Amino acid sequence: MTQAPYYKHHIFFCLNQRDNGQDCCASHGAQEAFEHCKSQVKAEGLAGVGGVRVNKAGCLDRCAGGPLAGVYPQGVWYTVMDKDDVNEIVQSHLKNGQIVERLVVPASVGR
Ligand code: FES
Repeated sequence: MTQAPYYKHHIFFCLNQRDNGQDCCASHGAQEAFEHCKSQVKAEGLAGVGGVRVNKAGCLDRCAGGPLAGVYPQGVWYTVMDKDDVNEIVQSHLKNGQIVERLVVPASVGR
């Protein structure tokens, strides 16, 4: 028998910061997107058990698509450039289960 998932959606933001001059998600507003997502999820009443969990992550190894956020259990990866992108992901995917196709990272994008 399968248990219901603890969270309906789990979203991970890469907040990796590279100090060696190489590009990274932290250089493109990842921290701000993460914090905005947390506040929007909370404001929408989606946070918590049975709802949405917003987590920090290190490098997810798909840096070329960054700044990156992955949503599970769907395994959908988004490029999140600004607060508008975050708002759309929260409203469409996290609240209503509809993938935001325009922000999906193409399968071919890796490091
Ligand atoms: S630095 Fe963000 S995915 Fe690698």
